[in-house]
Amino acid sequence: MARILPILDQTAIPLAIEALRRGEPVAVPTETVYGLAADATNPAAIAAIYEAKGRPRFNPLISHVSDLDMAKVHVRVSPLAEKLAAAFWPGALTLVLPLSDTCRIHPLATAGLPTAAVRMPEGFARDLIAAFGEPLAAPSANRSGRVSPTSARHVEEDLGERIGLILDGGRCRIGVESTILAVDDAGLRLLRPGGIPVDAIEMVAGQAIQRPATQAGGAVIAPGMLASHYAPSAAVRLNATDARSGETVIRFGGVPLPGEDQAKMILDLSPSGDLREAAANLFDFLKRADASGAACIAVAPVPAHGLGEAINDRLARAAAPRD
Ligand code: TXA
Ligand code: MG
Repeated sequence: MARILPILDQTAIPLAIEALRRGEPVAVPTETVYGLAADATNPAAIAAIYEAKGRPRFNPLISHVSDLDMAKVHVRVSPLAEKLAAAFWPGALTLVLPLSDTCRIHPLATAGLPTAAVRMPEGFARDLIAAFGEPLAAPSANRSGRVSPTSARHVEEDLGERIGLILDGGRCRIGVESTILAVDDAGLRLLRPGGIPVDAIEMVAGQAIQRPATQAGGAVIAPGMLASHYAPSAAVRLNATDARSGETVIRFGGVPLPGEDQAKMILDLSPSGDLREAAANLFDFLKRADASGAACIAVAPVPAHGLGEAINDRLARAAAPRD
């Protein structure tokens, strides 16, 4: 079983570094979700991430850096990318940039692409990377196909028997994964909506972000992202305007759904209608709704603006047909 260590424990960073040097993945809290981190330059360590997650194939991972100089060793940072990094790093923005000539991020972490996804996380994760001295590749610390973890307990439930160390930083402040943006000669392309709203990035960039075609339900198609990536085991009914007998209800803004007195459980993403609070609660509520034993989770409409774009994207994935 994994050892769970609070990030405030003096031994957290030294023990994590020992494990990372041995090529073992370590679960680390970030402001978005918990990541399963390993040395991005070590192919055996990256393979161990895929093994622990049970990923069906090698998807490109995000490499996390502690500062812009570390990013510049591995990717080519254009002036526009640097402007975005200055505005949003550390934070929930991942930039997909061309590999540099000095790049040592292993092709297993980039899936052999000529680009790498890089992000500078906040707080403890950033301190750990600075102490380790190399980028950490880290997908969300959940088993493949499950909802992303926003607490150490979530990680333990999913991966506790497969990894050695979980660092506990409490609940993730943002609660949905980073926004992923490709920056190249063709401009800016949204690969995944996330913790930084698109309009905030457009304001800084001074240009529009292209949105690729979305699939039915509104989920953005990005490489390596399965449609039903965030699937709970219960069925998910979106934009519900009523509750049916035996369903679990996830609502928003303190607005009751007609019929919810017949519901198994009622959760409200944000009684006051705050999208930040809703994002922070989203994955925990999907897990609780799933654990309620209801065959179906009815989710009331959530506004689509700002962080609502990422929330609706994750909900569309949760409701997508399973394979
Ligand atoms: O908030 C987050 O981004 C979290 C925390 C741990 O930082 N990480 C995360 O990683 O969500 P992951 O592996 O679940 O998502 C990485 C996604 C891939 O599914 C893929 O779509 C995209 O990043 N990606 C990575 N490298 C790429 C590349 N070179 N080109 C295009 N997309 C890429
Ligand atoms: Mg994930």
